[in-house]
Amino acid sequence: MCEIILNREDVYAGDLILVNKKFPVRKACKSENLVLADSRYPEIFLNRKPASMLERLIKEIAAETKIVPVSGYRSLKEQTEIYEGALKEYGREFTEQYVAFPNHSEHQTGLAIDLGCAAEEIDFIRPYFPYDGICGKFREKAALYGFAERYEQGKENITQIAWEPWHFRYVGAPHAMLMRENGLCLEEYIELLRAYPYGETALHIECGGTIAAVSYIRAEKEKTVIELAEDKPYQISGNNVDGFILTVWRE
Ligand code: DAL
Ligand code: ZN
Repeated sequence: MCEIILNREDVYAGDLILVNKKFPVRKACKSENLVLADSRYPEIFLNRKPASMLERLIKEIAAETKIVPVSGYRSLKEQTEIYEGALKEYGREFTEQYVAFPNHSEHQTGLAIDLGCAAEEIDFIRPYFPYDGICGKFREKAALYGFAERYEQGKENITQIAWEPWHFRYVGAPHAMLMRENGLCLEEYIELLRAYPYGETALHIECGGTIAAVSYIRAEKEKTVIELAEDKPYQISGNNVDGFILTVWRE
């Protein structure tokens, strides 16, 4: 048995944080966790894990020269400049659909990447990333590497962002696979997990030869104490709303 103590502020960190119009970025991304998404693009950073998974995925499908990173981590200042620039250039309606309000962008977490199909000119706000060819191949493998297409067609009312085929969010493999299998966007997935409270039940998926058991833990006002019954590999992420997501891997 192992006891884990989580602080209230841990709710706001981890691969599964929900960042949208309603839930802002609460914890700034630490610069020591950021690395280049691709060594050929010295201005595009991502958190370590998504950067390494992206590199492996691009290598597996031999897309090094065909798929390019367009925008990764953005500071609050950068998101503000992009938002204000878009307002001036394209107007409010376009901007609210395609650019998150400063402090409400997943790009500020270092967990999101916009990808484009390699071309002479790439639109920075809406890069071209189709559903066929090499980009389609990328999509087929994306969940296995932990990436979810974050703003899908048909989910606009929930995400409050337009369809963005180019924006991928790292959540980790079991979660990206569960989201895809169940046709859920991150808002819906975080909500679904409330039905799987830790200690009572869990959502299971086979992932890389092991079974991942995913469950939800509501955060206490200050400290939350979790007792893990099994000595198995696990991961805990805040949901940026009101609790934690526990993932335990079993053989
Ligand atoms: N384009 C996405 C919504 C962002 O600005 O974070
Ligand atoms: Zn994006």
